[in-house]
Amino acid sequence: MPKQLLVLQFGLGWVGSTLVEQILQNQEFFHQRFGLRIHFVALMRRQGGIYRAEGFSEAEMRRALEAKRQNKPITLEPKSTPMMTGRELLGFVSPEKFSGPIALVDATGAEELGRVAVAALRKNIHVVTANKRPFAASYEDYQELIQAQDEGNARLMHETTVGGGLPILRALRGLVYTGDEIEEIQGCLSGTNGFICSGLEQGRLLSEIVQEAQEKGYTEADPRQDLAGWDAARKALILARTIGVKLELNQIEMKGFVPSEKTPYSAEKFRSQIRALDKMLAEQITQAKQNGAVPRFVARVNSEGCSVGLQYVERESPIGRLTGPENIVVFKTKRYQKNPLVIQGPGAGPEVTAAGVLRDLLSVAGIYTDS
Ligand SMILES: NC(=O)c1ccc[n+]([C@@H]2O[C@H](COP(=O)([O-])OP(=O)(O)OC[C@H]3O[C@@H](n4cnc5c(N)ncnc54)[C@H](OP(=O)(O)O)[C@@H]3O)[C@@H](O)[C@H]2O)c1
Repeated sequence: MPKQLLVLQFGLGWVGSTLVEQILQNQEFFHQRFGLRIHFVALMRRQGGIYRAEGFSEAEMRRALEAKRQNKPITLEPKSTPMMTGRELLGFVSPEKFSGPIALVDATGAEELGRVAVAALRKNIHVVTANKRPFAASYEDYQELIQAQDEGNARLMHETTVGGGLPILRALRGLVYTGDEIEEIQGCLSGTNGFICSGLEQGRLLSEIVQEAQEKGYTEADPRQDLAGWDAARKALILARTIGVKLELNQIEMKGFVPSEKTPYSAEKFRSQIRALDKMLAEQITQAKQNGAVPRFVARVNSEGCSVGLQYVERESPIGRLTGPENIVVFKTKRYQKNPLVIQGPGAGPEVTAAGVLRDLLSVAGIYTDS
């Protein structure tokens, strides 16, 4: 009998649809190499989705991907049950009726999926997620999520919530679980802010680089989110909580390019806010260069807390040598004292992120055991 893994897939955007493609393309490889078959039994998007206990065929999955590309709802008939919400779906799914493990994949950016993940874990459904929001929610909600895993038999895998496909969280857990002491974690965790820092280092104006980043689709719809450092702060918070620091998002010290604002986004006001920073930043960077330093958007985590923001670091350091949107994490520990442990590479992108989710999925299927 081949091993079976049943997947309830939430989100068919960049990461979700690439994951589906990677699974469809590798089905024969998984079967021959590991004796594993992966079946999609539910597909959920913002406005709801569908469920069928027998699973969907490859042709049906391709129709679902095409529907998403055309921004149409997924309707795979006959015999697929329409579902309105994730909770409704979980009410339908009975793990005991299936002959293999079930995993809920969260490839959305929705905070409310944290509640769905808790409900899934309590039903012994594994959760594999790229969605950092539930891990950066209030400490109470985060604890509930972790407890739901600890009290049951299902696993919660979220490697891709920090650094996309890079093995950052599993490396960190490896250090902590073997009794190493983490002195400090430093990193550049935001690809958008890395792109901006590289541009500044080349002598370009902040306003010009931000405009290019917006045109290339690197920024959020409200670019103040990136520039204030929220993305980096959430990832830093996940690292901090992984080493046992009890912290809330609003306790992170943030020194972004712009302050975090709750006022509605106005493109014109934002442009003038950024232009006002051009001269000051250009002067700071010229000065820093004379001292052998370069601008980087750095997250720092230690047992005392977390900070994220623009800093000037030695050009000849691991963080100083980083270029463009790449991510880097530098672990300074009791064992990695003189030469810290460094993990570096592309920290986002659908191909590498979906592959990271797939690695976690193979892990819950019992194929991979190192995390
Ligand atoms: N893109 C990357 O390189 C990258 C890297 C690391 C981590 N991530 C994380 O991966 C997640 C997905 O990123 P993405 O770039 O693929 O986003 P995306 O292209 O915006 O896709 C999001 C998908 O989630 C669905 N969705 C949103 N809210 C939902 C809800 N409440 N219930 C069910 N489905 C819901 C959307 O539905 P509709 O189809 O109806 O719109 C869409 O299909 C995010 O958490 C992101 O932070 C992304």
